[in-house]
Amino acid sequence: MYDVQKIRADFPMLKNHTMQGHPLVYLDNAATTFKPKAVIDAMVEYYSEYCANAHRGDYDLTHIVDTKFDEARETVARFINAERREVVFTSGTSMSLNMVAYGYGAKYIKKGDEILLTQAEHASNVLPWFKVAEMTGATIGYVPLDHEGRLTPESLEKVITNKTKVVSVAHVTNVLGFTVDVKALAKIAHAHGAIIVVDGAQSVPHIKTDVKDLDCDFLAFSGHKMCGPTGIGVLYGKYDLLVKTDPFMTGGGMNARFDMCGEVAYMQPPIKFEAGTQNIDGVLGLAAAIKYLEGIGMENIVAHEHELRRYAIERLKKLDNIIIYNENAEAGIITFNIKGVFGQDAATFLNSKGIAVRSGNHCAKILLTFLKTSNTLRASFYLYNTKEEVDAFVEACKKGGDFLDAYFA
Ligand code: ALA
Repeated sequence: MYDVQKIRADFPMLKNHTMQGHPLVYLDNAATTFKPKAVIDAMVEYYSEYCANAHRGDYDLTHIVDTKFDEARETVARFINAERREVVFTSGTSMSLNMVAYGYGAKYIKKGDEILLTQAEHASNVLPWFKVAEMTGATIGYVPLDHEGRLTPESLEKVITNKTKVVSVAHVTNVLGFTVDVKALAKIAHAHGAIIVVDGAQSVPHIKTDVKDLDCDFLAFSGHKMCGPTGIGVLYGKYDLLVKTDPFMTGGGMNARFDMCGEVAYMQPPIKFEAGTQNIDGVLGLAAAIKYLEGIGMENIVAHEHELRRYAIERLKKLDNIIIYNENAEAGIITFNIKGVFGQDAATFLNSKGIAVRSGNHCAKILLTFLKTSNTLRASFYLYNTKEEVDAFVEACKKGGDFLDAYFA
């Protein structure tokens, strides 16, 4: 049985924290998540017990670090069903997507080619491609979203051409929380000779991810949205594509040799992409986070989030002052507005009740034209949220129509 209270006990941030005199209700998990003690301990252990650089030393301490670093890569590979050599450590999803855009896109995309995105993408999956289009003379196209804001294989099929070289989309979109059928999209992209790049920032933390089954070419995700540390993330790439991709950064550790004439030989992937001293505590923290999530079971986590979402939607729908933008989304994300109240004002009001949600455009600025609103509120759940927290959130929303409450609460 899913024991949410036992899970909550693992998180220092969930121990009697208050905000504005109320128990803290943290519903901003799509922005970042809290960290369990196991993750914090793994990082403290590195600094307290075997602090040394990785892949550089010949003494006992470095041997311990090297072994743990390599085991962490193995853990990530197992988690997404990749090969170890296909897992590149990066600083997060943004870095991973930039690495693909500049290292692969700028190298292989030519004038007249097309890069296909959607209007629902996060800035990190739009702006690097804008830059690549500017550098290469390629064009940017958008796969139309359906009436709800979903990307469907049928709409990709309608717009993709043999000029399309890259389809880059989120597996779960960060505002609307719709899950995209990556496997079907990959099939269509490949049939047209394009690659598919997947922004997994909002999917990998929640749903069991199998890169072989999805058949995606690249997948980017972040540690901090899945109970891991900030500043660590992953770029998965099919090995033959990683071999063809240029490193975004060069420097120590990633080269096999270089000489005074400028002759350089790089290491093979993934090391080719890991210049400089790595975020070792981040890597170890990420591995601890993955083991923690695996211990609970991804299928249990997603079922818990679905139940919270179902419960919250059912209750929110009974309020006549709430506009919900993604009633049917699969992910534990609810995007909404309180009628007549500017999003940031509503978030300030919710804060006064101890409730943390995100407001604004959520870095998905071109989605706002689709939603026909200037900003929204976003509540996002994770494995430690409870129905009691949903109750507190809904009760606060009931009163959220009077923004002046924020000042006089
Ligand atoms: N990318 C994060 C979000 O969607 C910060 O909130």
